[in-house]
Amino acid sequence: MDDADIDARFAIAASVMAEAAALALQYNQRLETLTIESKGPQDLVSEADREVELLIRERIGVHFPEDDFVGEELGSKFDGVGVWVVDPIDGTQDFLLGFPTWCVSIAFVANDELVFGLITSPVTGDRYAARKGEGATWNGQVISASPATSLKDGVTSVGYSTKSTPYDLAHILDGLTTAGGVLRSVGSGALMIVWVATGQCIGYVEMYINAWDCLAALCIVKEAGGRSNDFLAENGPAGNGRIVVAAPALYTELESLLPTKS
Ligand code: IPD
Ligand code: CA
Ligand code: CA
Repeated sequence: MDDADIDARFAIAASVMAEAAALALQYNQRLETLTIESKGPQDLVSEADREVELLIRERIGVHFPEDDFVGEELGSKFDGVGVWVVDPIDGTQDFLLGFPTWCVSIAFVANDELVFGLITSPVTGDRYAARKGEGATWNGQVISASPATSLKDGVTSVGYSTKSTPYDLAHILDGLTTAGGVLRSVGSGALMIVWVATGQCIGYVEMYINAWDCLAALCIVKEAGGRSNDFLAENGPAGNGRIVVAAPALYTELESLLPTKS
């Protein structure tokens, strides 16, 4: 896949994102009418998640029927050179509770490399985007990660779901607060990552996250000069694992706060 192929996909991704974000927002404005199901403990899904993913799949399929697709709600297939990795709504619980902290996330991986990522927060209208080697933007303005050199110098996000353990969370919080850090947490891992890209947060950690939750945001934070573990190489485009994202000077310290692998 060459630069022209990536250009074509980046252009389509932007228009598909705009359409998907608008559809998700329409559903968010009539929450009381949505059919909601449980996929497990603290894991809900609604028709909004499925319909937004369907729209993204259909639009991409029209232009690039040869591409592979990994999505949270409707299954995954990947064995070729190009794969779209999509979470139609990251932060479903916040979406259903009427909080603004959810987003649409679209990443593209070519030849095993993360080549672009787009995140849109439909309630606030914030748009984040990055393409490999070309920097990252927030509503069209170039962004960069924080120059902070101490965990005392800002806010660190900590994600938690029932796929992790209370012990691991307690271990991280103990280390972070002992180091003089403070924490924030919302229901969208993707947003917590892009807030490191904008410099609003100095770090983000979570013991278990899926590729569709984080790959688009990881492209954005990398292009903004932030540092993370190489989630794609470690877990693949449909895998899961731990994640550490930080202002560049803080990565090593933040990573050291995680429990050792068992
Ligand atoms: C969730 C969010 C959350 C993370 C969970 C994910 P969803 O995604 O990314 O931050 O802690 O593990 O499942 O279910 O809202 O798309
Ligand atoms: Ca998600
Ligand atoms: Ca989701």
